[in-house]
Order: sequence, then C-alpha cells, then structure tokens
Amino acid sequence: MKLLEGKVAVITGAARGIGKAIALKFASEGADIAFTDLAIDENGKATEQEIAALGVRAKGYASNAANFEEAHNVVAEIVKDFGRIDILVNNAGITRDGLMMRMTEQQWDMVINVNLKSAFNFIHAVTPIMMRQKGGSIINMASVVGVSGNAGQCNYSASKAGMIGLAKSIAKELGSRGVRANAIAPGFIITDMTAALSDEVKAEWAKQIPLRRGGTPEDVANVATFLASDLSSYVTGQVIHCCGGMNM
Ligand SMILES: NC(=O)c1ccc[n+]([C@@H]2O[C@H](COP(=O)([O-])OP(=O)(O)OC[C@H]3O[C@@H](n4cnc5c(N)ncnc54)[C@H](O)[C@@H]3O)[C@@H](O)[C@H]2O)c1
Repeated sequence: MKLLEGKVAVITGAARGIGKAIALKFASEGADIAFTDLAIDENGKATEQEIAALGVRAKGYASNAANFEEAHNVVAEIVKDFGRIDILVNNAGITRDGLMMRMTEQQWDMVINVNLKSAFNFIHAVTPIMMRQKGGSIINMASVVGVSGNAGQCNYSASKAGMIGLAKSIAKELGSRGVRANAIAPGFIITDMTAALSDEVKAEWAKQIPLRRGGTPEDVANVATFLASDLSSYVTGQVIHCCGGMNM
C-alpha cells in the first residue's frame, strides 16, 4: 500500500518549484492532488498532466492565495470536485528583499500577505472540513531564516517565523480533533526563486552548509511526504529543518 493512498492533498503555489515536487511525490504515493497557483497557464497545465500521468486525479486551480475570499472559494470548489481534504501544504511564497532602511511598505505588505496571510486563509478554510473528518495534516513551508533571521529579508523572515507560530498554534488548537500541523524549514533549495541569486552569494551559502550542496525540491518533498503520511502520526507542532545542516 502506498503511503498516501486514498488521501486528497491541497498544495498552494504548486505550478513549479518545491510545490510541484511535493505534488509529484504525493501523487507517486497515491494521493489525489488539487493544486493552486496565481494562474494555470501552459506551465500549470503541464504540471497537471505530469501529476495525472502518475495515475491519480489532478487539477490545478487559478487562485491568489493571499486573498481570503479566493482561498475560501477555491477550497469549496476542491471539496466539490474531490469530496474531501486530508492534507494542506501552504507552499505559495515570494521574496521582495531589501534592507530595513530601504524597504517599502508595499514590499512588507506583499510578502506578509502572500507568505503568511495565505496560510491563515487556507487553514481557516480547511479547518471545519478536517474537524468534520476527524483528521488531517497541515504543513507550512517556512524557511531556515524564519528561525535565524536574515539581513535584507526582514519581511520574508518575519513571514516565515509567523508560519511556524501559526503551525504550532493550530497544532495545539486542533490536536484533540486528530489534526496535525507542522512546518518545514528549507535552507538553500535550487529553484527559480534562488536562481536569481549571484554566483558569489550562492558560493557564500554553500560554505555554510555541512552537506556542501544546495537542496533539491525533491529533498523537501520527501520531508513533506513524511509529515503528510501516517508515518508522522505522533508528530505535531514541530519544525523540521531540511537544509543540509546549515541551521546548526
Ligand atoms: N527555494 C528556496 O531556497 C526556499 C527556501 C526556503 C523556503 N522556501 C519556500 O518554499 C516555497 C516554494 O518556493 P520555491 O523556491 O519553489 O519558489 P518558486 O518561486 O519557484 O515557486 C513559488 C510558486 O508560488 C506561486 N505563487 C506566488 N504567489 C502566489 C499567490 N499569491 N498565490 C498562489 N500562488 C502564488 C508562484 O507562481 C510559483 O509557482 C515558498 O514558500 C518559499 O518561500 C524556498
């Protein structure tokens, strides 16, 4: 029996990158996949087909995760299409870096809304569903910098620290209903988000990583699969670092 057989997973911001790798890994373990992204364009359609090719149901939904109403609408649509929701991965995220001295209000608001408020929006929408089902696994995609902080990323680090506090609070609120909530703190993962960094910055990062390499989206997807599955049935309110040891 596959690890996620019979389960329905919702993954936000999963047309590419880490979210897509999680969707593919979950699908290979038998989960049906509903994913969201800002738009389901050619790229999103290709992701949908790649997931479906693994023999599960797959559907991409265009939805701005930062918008409360859109998040609730898309969750209602997913329940109509799939019948249930067992796993929620709050993965959608962006960076708008800058030192505090130069950071604009817009940069701050955008990152907090897309990274943190989106997680609130989706957890708020799935909570009654998971409570009714008496079970569920919620996974917030945080970051090492949500624990350590990072110069030039006060907005991003604050949003990721917020996602950790949110996961822990939900773990306490919903534990008695069989709903678990955890966070993953990836380090330097090779995706479009980090491709924009200069070689110099990347080399500096690598020096801080005991495993001496950047992580892959699949490295993070493996941790997400553990947290989504019953293998982690006694794990809640935790932050699992997936960073090659760079947090030590
Ligand atoms: N790449 C890394 O090194 C790294 C490290 C730590 C944490 N993370 C986190 O992992 C998550 C995925 O990162 P990634 O590297 O795959 O990034 P990515 O930029 O490759 O993918 C992010 C996806 O989210 C989507 N998205 C953006 N805003 C959205 C919104 N408002 N609503 C719905 N979807 C939206 C994008 O369209 C994109 O498809 C993010 O939360 C990121 O902060 C990444």
